[in-house]
Amino acid sequence: MMRCTSSAALALGLILVTLISQSYGQKLQVGYYNGKCWNYNVEEIVFNVVKAKFARDPTIVAGLIRLQFHDCIVRGCDASVLLNGPKTEKTASPNLSLQGFYVVDAVKAALEKACPGVVSCADVLNIAARSAVFLAGGKWYFVETGRRDGFESHQSEAIANLPSENMQVRDAVHLFASRGLSKEDFVVLLGGHTVGATHCDKFESRLYNYHNTGKPDAKMTSNMLYALKKTCPRRSKNQVYFKNNPKSHYRMDNTYYKNLLVNQGILEIDSNIASSPLTNSLVKKLAYAPGYFESRFGPAMVNMGRIGVLTGKQGEVRKYCGAVNHHKH
Ligand code: HEM
Repeated sequence: MMRCTSSAALALGLILVTLISQSYGQKLQVGYYNGKCWNYNVEEIVFNVVKAKFARDPTIVAGLIRLQFHDCIVRGCDASVLLNGPKTEKTASPNLSLQGFYVVDAVKAALEKACPGVVSCADVLNIAARSAVFLAGGKWYFVETGRRDGFESHQSEAIANLPSENMQVRDAVHLFASRGLSKEDFVVLLGGHTVGATHCDKFESRLYNYHNTGKPDAKMTSNMLYALKKTCPRRSKNQVYFKNNPKSHYRMDNTYYKNLLVNQGILEIDSNIASSPLTNSLVKKLAYAPGYFESRFGPAMVNMGRIGVLTGKQGEVRKYCGAVNHHKH
């Protein structure tokens, strides 16, 4: 009798799980596309396209890593950042300096050739970012897939949700927590700033008029202040690399954290995570514990890739990442 009841309960449970997964689609999983694109390896197709583009233009590694962040933090990882149109996320001012869209388009075109309508743009962003991390010398990690693409993208949401470079650590930790990410995830993910560059206007006030004092930020070393002022006179449109070692501009290593500890953070948020008691010990660990940053970055990207994922009928697989297939009525 007992056995009968428990197996009936099990059967009922299975039916329920099946029904739920049919209406909401499947959860994210590693290798979701295995066997779904003939006998092509979807992740390998993505990697090869990114690798070919990277060979000509290493800056795209920074572009692709940042794209995943800017997608996931606004409306979840639904490829809303890729939609073109008058008032879409792309048009919000922090997104005007995003780069790497052409790589996403090339990846998507290669996938559509292999198996049309199978691989979502949201997954392309996540797989492409992992490819970028690896090509930049970071550790390979297993990426979860199975996301669908969203139907909406709003400039106002990007403005409201993308973090500001002058943010206090406490507020940034809250923002990430509201997306299910821990304080450690936040500090590790900010290590994305180990690659790429920033425009001068994003930290100009630190050079000339820090918090309306009429003076530079006292946390900057005089050497660095001198060098940055040279590249960034007032109202300059120039860019500076996050790291000052030319060999390391596009290398996924932990010199970002080492620099922070000698007051060489460029953006205020970079410098803040080193000085804040909330995050200072984590920064030290990331700077000094061998291999720690390298082993934590991938898992933190995976956690970020879980934000607000759409499955089943909540989304679609776009044919072209810049536009939805059907407008919802
Ligand atoms: C509080 C959080 C963050 C703030 C305030 C912030 C802010 C910024 C700013 C102001 C820039 C320069 C953009 C420009 O010049 O127009 C930038 C660049 C960049 N950010 Fe962040 N960021 C944050 C978190 C992240 C995270 C979590 C990642 C990735 C995991 C990331 C990856 C990048 C990369 C790779 C670049 C360089 C892009 C390039 O060279 O094309 N950032 N960020």
